[in-house]
Amino acid sequence: MSETTNTIKHVASPLARQTLQDNELTRPVAGVRPIRLLPWLQVVKIGGRAIMDRGAAAILPIVDEIRKVLPEHRLLILTGAGIRARHLYSVGLDLGLPVGSLAPLAASEAGQNGHILASLLAPEGVSYVEHPTIESQLAIHLSAARAVVGSAFPPYHHHEFPHSRIPTHRADTGAFLLADALGAAGLTIVEDVDGLYTGDPKGPDGEKAQLVRETTVADLAAHQDTLPFDRALLEVMATARHLEHVQIVNGLVPGRLTAALRGEHVGTIIHTGVQAV
Ligand SMILES: Nc1ncnc2c1ncn2[C@@H]1O[C@H](COP(=O)(O)OP(=O)(O)OP(=O)(O)O)[C@@H](O)[C@H]1O
Ligand SMILES: [Mg+2]
Repeated sequence: MSETTNTIKHVASPLARQTLQDNELTRPVAGVRPIRLLPWLQVVKIGGRAIMDRGAAAILPIVDEIRKVLPEHRLLILTGAGIRARHLYSVGLDLGLPVGSLAPLAASEAGQNGHILASLLAPEGVSYVEHPTIESQLAIHLSAARAVVGSAFPPYHHHEFPHSRIPTHRADTGAFLLADALGAAGLTIVEDVDGLYTGDPKGPDGEKAQLVRETTVADLAAHQDTLPFDRALLEVMATARHLEHVQIVNGLVPGRLTAALRGEHVGTIIHTGVQAV
């Protein structure tokens, strides 16, 4: 927006005189729904512990499944950090490292898993790309190839919130933030269990745990038991702008990921707090 008076060009901004703290004042400008950058994109988060740490027995079938769905979908595949990050946390915590130092180290483990997955999918034209490439060149990469692989960890790194000694924003949160920011068509989280249960199905009371087929992020806010994803995922899902739900599926069961990508309900569907603006 500009006005020209004599030869002086004034650049007027509707937010110039507003405090950015007052939502009422900024709403006329900032209250519109963001555009979907990549509405055809499907984002898939592959569990570091659930899939990658199991090695060939779990990875090769998933790679085969991804290979077969490539003609149907364009994918951003994001990998979690897995067991190496857990070991790193314990060593780092023992040494007193701050959370902001642990976050980038754990993120590098997620990246390693991504490199492994991308190597196996390389014959299909799939590459590992770093976050700056995801941020600015994902569209061109996905025009050249049906999928790319990246790290699911968000790059808070030394800016990680010091709420806890272990980074709170991990792979699930990072995958959701990216998928929602890109306006993707969907996010599928690949685990080693059939979905979200009322408690850890592999825990001491595992046989009592029941599969939850469908729930909402609002209902889960009160869930006190453990979860198969970062608790911070609930916070970012509550303020989603595009994604209406995510689905958690068992990547150890052949065909579940393929079915989820086709829109079938084969795991746990969690509805976000997305609202029409
Ligand atoms: N309420 C729950 N419902 C289902 N699984 C649960 C629940 N609570 C804990 N779990 C456990 O979470 C495990 C998955 O662990 P986790 O989410 O840490 O792995 P991951 O997603 O592969 O890790 P990463 O975040 O490194 O990618 C499941 O195998 C299951 O035993
Ligand atoms: Mg998980």
